[in-house]
Amino acid sequence: MRKAIVGLVSLLFVIALFAVSNADAANAKYVGAKKCKACHIKQYKSWKKTKMANSFENLKPGVKADLKKKANLDPNKDYTTDAKCLKCHTTGYGKPGGFVSVEKTPKLINVQCEACHGPGSVYKKIMKKKKKTFTRAEVKAAGLIIPSENEKGCLVCHGGDSPFNAKVDPKYKFNFKERLKKTHKHFPLKYKH
Ligand code: HEC
Ligand code: HEC
Ligand code: HEC
Ligand code: HEC
Repeated sequence: MRKAIVGLVSLLFVIALFAVSNADAANAKYVGAKKCKACHIKQYKSWKKTKMANSFENLKPGVKADLKKKANLDPNKDYTTDAKCLKCHTTGYGKPGGFVSVEKTPKLINVQCEACHGPGSVYKKIMKKKKKTFTRAEVKAAGLIIPSENEKGCLVCHGGDSPFNAKVDPKYKFNFKERLKKTHKHFPLKYKH
């Protein structure tokens, strides 16, 4: 009898834990790259040098005019409030806690960490609290994406209706393996997760 109760209690505990972590991932919001920078300065600095960190600039009138003409876009148009462009040139556009507008969410312009790693409000707390001891499974349950496991997540932007696609110029073709290497420099983790 006692064993059965203990068993039942632990089962309920596991279910509760599972429910909480799932709800957590669903509630995760975008926090912006500055928050990640505090603990991941090397990745931040390396990402900052990529075009992704400046991708919003492309939506301004006059910027990359020749390339825009080639892609059938109006080089003099201001695209910085155009929903069609924002979904790929900002972070979390249209999602809970994601980019809304330059005025309301200035810290979420450009293609930042969370475009590839998922909204960070929940997993960032676990990383902070547990450092060495968090498991990859628990941060994934809290919304962390390991990009090499998620080609689909890249194709949302590097495919679909992007005006700069392989038909305009073969250089825009998305080669997952090659691109993974150019996201930011990678540094070995100190601990096992
Ligand atoms: C308070 C500090 C802190 C913050 C803030 C933080 N992290 Fe982390 N993160 C860590 C620590 C500690 C580790 C484990 C490092 C190690 O083992 O060397 C980690 C590991 C990771 C890993 C590797 C996980 C794995 O299993 O491969 C990724 C990816 C990551 N963080 C992304 C982010 C992103 C994106 C943000 C911003 C949304 C962020 N982190 C915010 C502390 C933090
Ligand atoms: C929210 C949309 C979005 C997502 C998701 C996204 N990207 Fe991108 N990526 C962009 C945009 C926009 C650019 C072009 C930036 C520019 O030229 O201004 C870009 C550029 C790049 C570049 C070139 C960087 C440089 O400096 O030349 C690499 C590499 C890349 N992405 C890899 C990836 C990988 C790998 C994934 C998935 C893990 C991914 N991207 C997911 C929007 C996205
Ligand atoms: C489906 C996602 C998507 C949409 C929608 C999108 N872009 Fe992009 N854009 C990208 C990606 C991804 C790249 C980088 C392509 C690459 O490196 O292969 C890019 C690159 C660019 C570039 C730089 C090209 C270069 O060679 O330097 C400009 C300019 C640009 N986009 C403008 C726009 C404008 C303006 C709009 C809206 C009319 C728009 N984009 C809509 C995903 C998108
Ligand atoms: C274009 C996609 C992309 C963006 C944007 C991105 N990352 Fe990553 N990140 C990766 C990939 C790819 C890996 C390698 C892990 C894997 O996917 O297997 C990685 C790994 C990491 C790791 C584990 C250790 C390492 O160096 O490999 C940390 C920590 C991390 N990223 C933090 C960040 C932070 C902080 C930012 C923003 C400043 C960021 N990432 C932006 C794709 C991205």
